[in-house]
Amino acid sequence: MTDTHHALVAIRGRFLDVAAVCDNASLIEENIRHHEDGLLLIKEGRIEWFGDWNKGQEIIPANCLLHHHHRDKLIVPGFVDTHLHFPQAEIVGSYGEQLLQWLENHAFPAEKQFHDAAHATEMADFFIDQLLRNGTTTASVFCSVHPRSVVALFEAAEQINMRVIAGKVMMDRNAPQELLDSPKSSYCESKALIEKYHKRGRLLYAITPRFAPTSTPEQLEMAGKLKQEFPDAYIQTHLSENLEEIEWVKKLFPEQDNYFDVYHHHGLTGPRSIFAHCVHLEAQEWDRLHETDSAISFCPTSNLFLGSGLFDMQKAREKKIRIGMATDIGGGTTYSMLQTLSEAYKVMQLQGQRFTPWDAFYLATLGGARALSLDHLIGNFDTGKEADFVVLDPQATPLQTRQFKRAENSADLLFSLIVLGDERSISHTYVDGCLVHERPVKEKTFRRSCE
Ligand code: GUN
Ligand code: ZN
Repeated sequence: MTDTHHALVAIRGRFLDVAAVCDNASLIEENIRHHEDGLLLIKEGRIEWFGDWNKGQEIIPANCLLHHHHRDKLIVPGFVDTHLHFPQAEIVGSYGEQLLQWLENHAFPAEKQFHDAAHATEMADFFIDQLLRNGTTTASVFCSVHPRSVVALFEAAEQINMRVIAGKVMMDRNAPQELLDSPKSSYCESKALIEKYHKRGRLLYAITPRFAPTSTPEQLEMAGKLKQEFPDAYIQTHLSENLEEIEWVKKLFPEQDNYFDVYHHHGLTGPRSIFAHCVHLEAQEWDRLHETDSAISFCPTSNLFLGSGLFDMQKAREKKIRIGMATDIGGGTTYSMLQTLSEAYKVMQLQGQRFTPWDAFYLATLGGARALSLDHLIGNFDTGKEADFVVLDPQATPLQTRQFKRAENSADLLFSLIVLGDERSISHTYVDGCLVHERPVKEKTFRRSCE
C-alpha cells in the first residue's frame, strides 16, 4: 500500500446510484439518486461523504491530496459480475456448439493449461485487467480445478485490494482425466484455500462444485461438509442451463426430484449460494430457490451464444429471488457489463418483458451486490461503503456523442450507454478509492497509486 491510499480523495462530477435495496423492481426509479454536480469524499478506501458539490465543498480539508473533477462524465458504482470463469479468460467466442460439446472442445482444453503456475499468474493479470477496463470492480469467479489458479487470481486481486469471490472448481467425473480431483482431495484443497484466503482483506471464498454432472454424490457431500464447517463461505455452481444437461442430471441423480434438489439435498443452497443460468427451471425449482433465499446469475450473452434459452426474469421477480447480472466468460461473449445489460434487454424483449434503464442499472450495481450478499459493503455511494466506482464516458464514440446531446434525461443517457456502450465507455475505474484503470488516448493502468 502506498501512502496516498491513506489520504483523503475528493471526486467531483455527475453521480448516479440507487439509494436502497429494492426487492420490487417498481421501487428502483424512486430510489435513483442523481447529483448533477456532486462530490464524493473517500478516506482509506471508504466513502466519507457523498452529496452535492455545493454542500460539500467546504468540508474538503486543506490536506486533501487528490481532487479529480470528471467533467461531462457519469460516475456510477463499480459493476458487479456475479458469475464468470477465470480459466476461460481467453477463449471467448469459440465457435460452434451448445454447452456440453463446447465444454469438451473449448473450455476443458483451456482449463488444462492452468496446471502451469506461470500460465495461471500471467492469465490472472490479463483477467483482472479485463475486468477493470470494463468497469467491473467485484466478481464471483470460477477458477480451474488446480488450487494454484485460485492462488494466482487472489494474489492479483489482492495487489489492488479488489473484492473478489473465487473458488477452485470441484470436479471428480465426466471431464478429462487431467482435470479430475476426488471427493477427498477437493475437500482438502478447498479447505486449505478457505483457511488461507476467505475474508483475507476483501477476498472471499466460494465452494465451487462445477455442476451436478461433474461431481459424484460423494463429492457433493464433501462440498456440503465444507459449507457446514465454513457457513459464511459462498457456494457457486450452475443450474438448469441447457436441455441436454438437464436430462443428463436426471439420469445421474434419479433419486432427486429435480436439478435444484441435487444441490439442496447436499446442503448447497441458501443465501450465499449463487446459481448461474436457471433458464429451464421447473415450477418446484422456482419455489425452492425462493424458499432457500438462493440467488441467480442471469447470463444473457452466454445463454444466447450457447443457444441455451431465454431466462424468465418476470418469473424470478414474481418469486422474489435475488438476481445478479453475469458475463459467464468464456461462454459469454463480452466482459462488458454494459453489453451484458444490452443483451439482457433483448432477451426480455423477446419475451415481452419490461426492462427499464433503471432495472438494468440496479442489477449491475446494488442489485448485483445484494445477490452476492454484499450490499452492506458495496453497490452504491452510501457513507461507510467501499469506494469502488466507475467514470463512464457517454461520448466515447461519434454516435454516442450525438446521442449524449439528444438525451433529454438521465434515463435516456443511461439507456444509450447500455445499448451502445462497451469498454470504450469506461473512462476511469477506481477500486478501494484508488484509480486502477484510465482510458485516455494514451492508456495507462495503475496498480496501487492514486496519482
Ligand atoms: N456448466 C458447467 N460448466 C460450465 C461452464 O464452464 N460454462 C457454462 N456456461 N456452463 C457450464
Ligand atoms: Zn458458468
